[in-house]
Amino acid sequence: MLVTTALLALAMGAFAIPHQQPFDPDLANAIPAYIQETDGVDRYDGHEVWRINWSNLSVASRTALHSVLESTGDIWKATPDVIDVHLPPRVAAFLPSLIPKDAQATKIVPDLQALVNLSLAHPVPGLAGAYATRSPLTNPPTDLPDGGWNVSTLGTVFHDAFQPLSAMDRFLDTLVKAFPATLRAVEIGQSSEGRPLRAYTAHRADGKEDAPEVVIISGQHAREWVGPASAIYFLHALLVNLNDDPNGTAAKVLREFTVTVVPTLNPDGIVYSREHSRMWRKNRQDVGGLVCKGVDLNTNWGYEYRPSRLACSESYSGQRPFEAPETAAMANYIVNGTADAPRKRMPRAFIDLHSYGQLFMFPYSFSCNVFPPDAENLMEAGIGVAKAIRMIGGPGYQTGQACQSTLRFSGDAADYTYAVGQVRWSYSAELRDTGTYGFMLPPFLIRPTGIDVVAGLSALALFIYNTEIEP
Ligand SMILES: *[C@@H]1O[C@H](CO)[C@@H](O)[C@H](O)[C@H]1NC(C)=O
Ligand SMILES: *[C@@H]1O[C@H](CO)[C@@H](O)[C@H](O)[C@H]1NC(C)=O
Ligand SMILES: *[C@@H]1O[C@H](CO)[C@@H](O)[C@H](O)[C@H]1NC(C)=O
Ligand SMILES: *[C@@H]1O[C@H](CO)[C@@H](O)[C@H](O)[C@H]1NC(C)=O
Ligand SMILES: *[C@@H]1O[C@H](CO)[C@@H](O)[C@H](O)[C@H]1NC(C)=O
Ligand SMILES: *[C@@H]1O[C@H](CO)[C@@H](O)[C@H](O)[C@H]1NC(C)=O
Ligand SMILES: [Zn+2]
Repeated sequence: MLVTTALLALAMGAFAIPHQQPFDPDLANAIPAYIQETDGVDRYDGHEVWRINWSNLSVASRTALHSVLESTGDIWKATPDVIDVHLPPRVAAFLPSLIPKDAQATKIVPDLQALVNLSLAHPVPGLAGAYATRSPLTNPPTDLPDGGWNVSTLGTVFHDAFQPLSAMDRFLDTLVKAFPATLRAVEIGQSSEGRPLRAYTAHRADGKEDAPEVVIISGQHAREWVGPASAIYFLHALLVNLNDDPNGTAAKVLREFTVTVVPTLNPDGIVYSREHSRMWRKNRQDVGGLVCKGVDLNTNWGYEYRPSRLACSESYSGQRPFEAPETAAMANYIVNGTADAPRKRMPRAFIDLHSYGQLFMFPYSFSCNVFPPDAENLMEAGIGVAKAIRMIGGPGYQTGQACQSTLRFSGDAADYTYAVGQVRWSYSAELRDTGTYGFMLPPFLIRPTGIDVVAGLSALALFIYNTEIEP
């Protein structure tokens, strides 16, 4: 009880709001303490990330702690076992005294800015292991004299760094030009700031007609940089491997399936995370708040949707389902297809790539009381995905129902595609790592994570093929 009172004091703003600003009792418009209002680029010097093992706490204590951490810090991840939270120095200083005695807190990142710097670095071509100080925002290294990338090889330096959105778009354009018979791009809508939302669809010219579609999306959460990077790596690997081995797995996948990748569903947020605020998660939509912008895309889908109160929260779900043009466009694609190619049948599989946690999860996320009729098959295929990743020397991924692996969230993409879209094989994945670097994965882990995705999703496609298409 004492603990709860202390936590509530914190939630009420005792440490949450800088003292030079007037106290705003209306939490709905309070700016979380971790947000630094700057004209330029947010910095995280001295910010810490803590992992709190709360497995011994009652549900009520967890809920209280969660809401305090949500209003004073920036929750990175929450599972039934642990909660990871990013805190500015003046809140971090108080943390140990606020943790209930039945929980254990460990500092996992002592200085967040150091990790932010690392994730922005561009390796210098030719200097293995060395990282340049060149501007990460412009001039990413290229392979070719004309400033392009050599897309005929997975060895291209493109995959050595986290690229700005402009470079990702340019790389994908190059892929479409290099593999015109197999890959095409289609605009499925626009972001709230007017950027195109692009889907890249791959299928062999000599493949099955009306092949079932596998839809892979990433980038809903802007700060999870390894998602788009590995979605692009996956697409690139399918095309290169098809070329190199006409009898290989990629060739089979692209003969039997149409594979659609939407690598950057939240382009505005991705740009904002890179140029202004590395920890930005939402889109950049005006939500009518006084200060805060943005809808959390992955709580904004139209199944078991719940409106939320805190416009400044990183998990603000908006006031109505599909309020975000990005989720509306994606759902429209899944249900209706495009104007040129109206959908004849629903996609067969849907995978939403996030980070971090190394999880491969099936619906539902909103509740553990509703069990999907396909749970056993989804679990079996998920175990196959984890096994395929381990077989190629990757790390352990855990499979399970989303509501049990993380905290429950309403308005989740995979819940929607499964329940409303009738997409039987719906998953959401948390890619690397398990918290050492969190969202700030260093660039040398892009390829290994991309390789996890290639192995895992190829195994999923083959599982579906073997059980449903040619049993
Ligand atoms: C959290 O604590 C419980 C109980 O002490 C333990 O079983 C579990 O492994 C811990 N989890 C992590 C991620 O450290
Ligand atoms: C949970 O409780 C058990 C038994 O009292 C204890 O051994 C363990 O260390 C506790 N775990 C945490 C994370 O506090
Ligand atoms: C991060 O990089 C900035 C310059 O971009 C530098 O001023 C700062 O000292 C670096 N911080 C750490 C912790 O490396
Ligand atoms: C691109 O990479 C391939 C494979 O490494 C190589 O054979 C080819 O010469 C490269 N192309 C150019 C233009 O450098
Ligand atoms: C692919 O398989 C066919 C038939 O099994 C075989 O004739 C052909 O040589 C193989 N091609 C390659 C490049 O392995
Ligand atoms: C599919 O198209 C119909 C007709 O235009 C529209 O009413 C519906 O909202 C669309 N579905 C989605 C999920 O956008
Ligand atoms: Zn995410």
